[in-house]
Amino acid sequence: MTSGKPEAGVPFITFEGPEGAGKSTQIACLVARLQGTGVPHIVTREPGGTPLGTRVREVLLDPELSIDPLPEFLLYSASRAQLVTHVIRPALAQGHTVICDRYFDSSLAYQGAGRGLPVGLLRDLTREATGGLSPHLTVLLDLDPALGLRRVASRGQPDRLERADLGFHQRVRQGFLDLAAAEPRRFLVLDATRSTDVLAGEIWKAVERQLS
Ligand SMILES: Nc1ncnc2c1ncn2[C@@H]1O[C@H](COP(=O)(O)OP(=O)(O)OP(=O)(O)O)[C@@H](O)[C@H]1O
Ligand SMILES: [Mg+2]
Repeated sequence: MTSGKPEAGVPFITFEGPEGAGKSTQIACLVARLQGTGVPHIVTREPGGTPLGTRVREVLLDPELSIDPLPEFLLYSASRAQLVTHVIRPALAQGHTVICDRYFDSSLAYQGAGRGLPVGLLRDLTREATGGLSPHLTVLLDLDPALGLRRVASRGQPDRLERADLGFHQRVRQGFLDLAAAEPRRFLVLDATRSTDVLAGEIWKAVERQLS
């Protein structure tokens, strides 16, 4: 995880960034390329990806619920622990490239930089939840949160996190950038205002390097 080295083998790739940065869009582009080249892979997401994670996701995104920062982090961690054990590790062991829409960097950015929980505590608990599994490549789609929230506004009712104030989302963005600066070899930071095709090309170049 954050202080450890990724394990050898097929790539484990995560996508991070604020709301509406284009993670789902770019994952779809990457999946099309992987399918086209016959690379075995799976796609999963956080929170979610397992029956438990799906239930936890409903709780975390529910706009009716008020959730304090620590229980919020623990809920994400519960989903993550289940996902690592039952989905990510088995897929990597079978030689499948794993693509995950958000992973522990989101917790460090949202609950650490955003909510102000102590990052040392978050890292310790994350190490327990993941067994120290770190991605080989993390694509950070960086975007002004005001623009990202505008992009997703047309989707209908905002979820619990989309409703948080802009200051929170700005701290999250900076949190992601700080994480990337601390681990430049793992992160590919991209300006998410560029076109979908240009971004997909940059991401594919980085993924090809991981696959070779
Ligand atoms: N490069 C881009 N330029 C302009 N608009 C984009 C770009 N990429 C995605 N979009 C649009 O922005 C919106 C949000 O994209 P997407 O759902 O991929 O973001 P996301 O990061 O997955 O969002 P969320 O955090 O809510 O999961 C969509 O309407 C999508 O079509
Ligand atoms: Mg998405």
